[in-house]
Amino acid sequence: MTENYADYTTPGMDFEDSHRVTETLQLRLHALNDLQLTLKHAHWNVVGPNFIAVHEMLDPQVDEVRGWADLVAERIATMGASPNGTPGSIVTGRTWEDYPLGRASTQAHISALNDVYTGMIQDFRNAIAETGKVDPMTEDILVEITRGLELFQWFLRSFITTSDGALKPVTD
Ligand SMILES: [Fe+2]
Repeated sequence: MTENYADYTTPGMDFEDSHRVTETLQLRLHALNDLQLTLKHAHWNVVGPNFIAVHEMLDPQVDEVRGWADLVAERIATMGASPNGTPGSIVTGRTWEDYPLGRASTQAHISALNDVYTGMIQDFRNAIAETGKVDPMTEDILVEITRGLELFQWFLRSFITTSDGALKPVTD
């Protein structure tokens, strides 16, 4: 592998701060790459009523998440670090479990994906808190992505919310 850090970061930024920010961004890149694969996996494996609604809802999410991965990876490169996007590095670098479902009902996939989004959003909010003080440009990128993740989670939650507002996940 090439040396992770170039001789530069963005002007005016402390190197130590920059390295800490790019490490945080690298884990977010793994999360986004993991999510885009997981969403496609669910797109292929949903069965049952509402199939086409869920199947077709997921593809635009995949496209958006891929765009966010690109945004994060290019911020890492802009800051003089080397973004890692290999499949092996996602598996060794991630701190969460693999997606649990294969072929399963639309409601079960929606419920499992809701959990995935909850973890993503919590981790993104933590990343915003970690990076915001030293790099507002990174914070801006993470805020934009988190806003989008929250919107997509609302789409999912709408499938498992009752008319009185209760969230009713399904496990099978
Ligand atoms: Fe497809």
